[in-house]
Amino acid sequence: MATKIILLWSVLFNSAQSQILPPDLKLGVATASYQIEGGWNANGKGVNIWDELTHTHPDLVADHTTGDVACDSYHLWQDDLKMLKFLKVDHYRFSLSWSRLLPGGFTNQINPDGVAYYNNLINALITEGIEPMVTLYHWDLPQNLQNLGGWTNPLMALYFENYARVAFYLFGGRVKTWITINEPSSICVGTYEDGDGAPAFVNSSGIGLYLCGRTILLAHAAAYRVYDAEFRKKQGGRVGITIDSIWAEPKTNNSADVEAATREMQFGVGVVFSLSGNYPSIMISRVGDNSKREHFMESRLPPFTPKEIKLIQGSSDFFGLNHYHTWLIANQDYPDSSPSYHKDKGTKGTQDPDWEPGIVPWGFRKLLNWIKNEYNNPLVIVTENGYGDGGAVDDVNRVVFLKEFMRALVAAIHDGCNVKGYTVWSVMDNMEWRAGYTVKFGLHYVNFTDVKRTRTPKCSAYVYATIIKERVIPG
Ligand code: NOJ
Repeated sequence: MATKIILLWSVLFNSAQSQILPPDLKLGVATASYQIEGGWNANGKGVNIWDELTHTHPDLVADHTTGDVACDSYHLWQDDLKMLKFLKVDHYRFSLSWSRLLPGGFTNQINPDGVAYYNNLINALITEGIEPMVTLYHWDLPQNLQNLGGWTNPLMALYFENYARVAFYLFGGRVKTWITINEPSSICVGTYEDGDGAPAFVNSSGIGLYLCGRTILLAHAAAYRVYDAEFRKKQGGRVGITIDSIWAEPKTNNSADVEAATREMQFGVGVVFSLSGNYPSIMISRVGDNSKREHFMESRLPPFTPKEIKLIQGSSDFFGLNHYHTWLIANQDYPDSSPSYHKDKGTKGTQDPDWEPGIVPWGFRKLLNWIKNEYNNPLVIVTENGYGDGGAVDDVNRVVFLKEFMRALVAAIHDGCNVKGYTVWSVMDNMEWRAGYTVKFGLHYVNFTDVKRTRTPKCSAYVYATIIKERVIPG
């Protein structure tokens, strides 16, 4: 029966130009705690790094706003449920606020109100037949842990492991898909290199970024191994990590640009999926190989021990992928830079001028094929894909984006890519980090001047709901 359906699907696929969705592709939408919940100090929640950043450095947010209220999902989660029911999604990806559950970051204090909040949401989703897909860490670190050095402190791996254990214990009977960490490279680059994310340190000594990356990967692996040892048998779920990746297209065919684009991909996608469990070799050779004496002096890459490599190797049941952009990559030399600052990648990117900003569906297809070829065709769940604009309800560009990217996705599946999930960022407009409320990604408009934070479907919401219902991408 299943073979027949798949056969039928591929016949239809060929005749309908990538428009029919494969029967086993699950469709959903995503959010993250800080971006939607509000209730920043409600009922025992602790302070996190985004509360701290927005309160102490309002000038670092484009419109000087905060996530104190945001979409107020902490109080209005039933309104969120209505949107999910309207769309009839298969899954809803949301994140747990670490400091709502464990106000100080540690497991010695669990906030019963935070537990109740997520219990209510998860139970309601299940009643509606919507699969909860839960991210443990989507950037809102308890401030208390940042005060201890945040992700540059190797002990964070242990604190995260303990937090993950609590979450698996509390919710794992009902949550079957877990994402440990959202976008390790955005976290580490944003925190310790370009200052884009809280706590917004810039160029923190050139090593912060790599210390952070190392700890985050060990934290992820520790959580994965805890699930394996203590929960997998009883709960039967799956645990993965979400990696963000652009598609890096060489700007020209000359070998320097082609190599630069490859470097960009390797640096971006990283370690968990490399078969060796270690840093990609290009990263080792660029940032410093600790095993070679002559490079030792310049190295900024804290090495993994063989035991750690084993821990990381294969520590993901699926490849969670966040994808937004394609960049044209040209090689760039930094002859004047001091040892290894800007020469990590040596690339320079621009958007493809032939496309509307942000709408490059062929890059998505190429990226999915690259993952297939590079990492032995892992199970991929696209955990985010979306389009940012000024927030109009008549969101024509988002509709084009959605249809074109979903078409590219189906084409990639037809190429043999093992993709089983697609998730739109986001179900509604929300707090876009340092951009505040100046950029909107929602399928639903949110009225941020109204205490009820009324949610209104945009054109794209109707289109997505129809795609979900009909299982066909309209022309
Ligand atoms: C990726 C991040 O996970 C999400 O939090 C953010 O809002 C979107 N990209 C859009 O920038």
